[in-house]
Amino acid sequence: MKKMVMVVVGCSNGVDLARRIARHLRVPFSPLSAGSFPDGELKLKFMTPLKGKHVVLVQTLHPANEQLVELVFAIQTAKELGAAKVTAVVPYMAYLRQDVRFHPGECQSNRIAASLLSGADRVITIDPHLHRVKHLKEIFHKPVTTLTANSLLASFIKKHYGKEIIVGPDAESYQWANKIAEQVKAHAIVLKKKRYGSRKVAIKIKGIDLKGKTVVIVDDIISSGHTMMETIKEAKRLGAKKIVCVAVHGIFAENALKKIRALGAQAYATNTVDNPVARIDVSGLLADALR
Ligand code: R5P
Repeated sequence: MKKMVMVVVGCSNGVDLARRIARHLRVPFSPLSAGSFPDGELKLKFMTPLKGKHVVLVQTLHPANEQLVELVFAIQTAKELGAAKVTAVVPYMAYLRQDVRFHPGECQSNRIAASLLSGADRVITIDPHLHRVKHLKEIFHKPVTTLTANSLLASFIKKHYGKEIIVGPDAESYQWANKIAEQVKAHAIVLKKKRYGSRKVAIKIKGIDLKGKTVVIVDDIISSGHTMMETIKEAKRLGAKKIVCVAVHGIFAENALKKIRALGAQAYATNTVDNPVARIDVSGLLADALR
């Protein structure tokens, strides 16, 4: 059977990754023209014919709201323009943390975001935040592929910091901390975290001496940075000499990077979200999933 012609389209927050993916796959890249009308409504235009093609739309969902709307419109438009298949590559999938109605009357956003993206024939994402939902298949009605950047994080840590102590700030980060520690052949510790609100967390480390040690804290997301900041403070209290934060998705909201650095720690992330410390490239990982 003849292979469908593929084109990789970079939406507003996916241009760099889309270009890199297209280069890995040796297929054409095309930007999505995304402007706005005077009242702020989106004005989208594909710059290449899509008829009969496998259209890969790359869009990271940060900032979440604008990027989600743009992606939903782009998926639908690609279909209307005759795309034979539409794959949405969403390196960072927003809205997954609200996976239950924590308080009466609240919106459970994960299912709604998933259903909005269900116009795509396939969705590919990296290290989605999964807690009460164990796999995205539970909330997506279309084929969904979840990749992990664990090996990329492990190689980065190994290359720059050697076999240092790997810390996961909470039980949820165990999946990163432990797997990465195994690959780096380092020791992993997972801490106890209690969240009191979106900007207030408490972290406890018990019975561990970090005196003079280099500590690498790994997590899936650095958002407000409070989880990292509390972990940094606790590691410092226990004597850590050098502290490095490594995350898959570096959102760094509300000046989080500056605040982390002010505590004397370094921070690095992948390029699923554009930020000044996006040193770990995930384009190869995404390209492999599209082969
Ligand atoms: C939560 O369970 C996640 O794994 C991260 O720890 C969390 O999203 C980080 O958020 P923040 O940077 O706002 O503390």
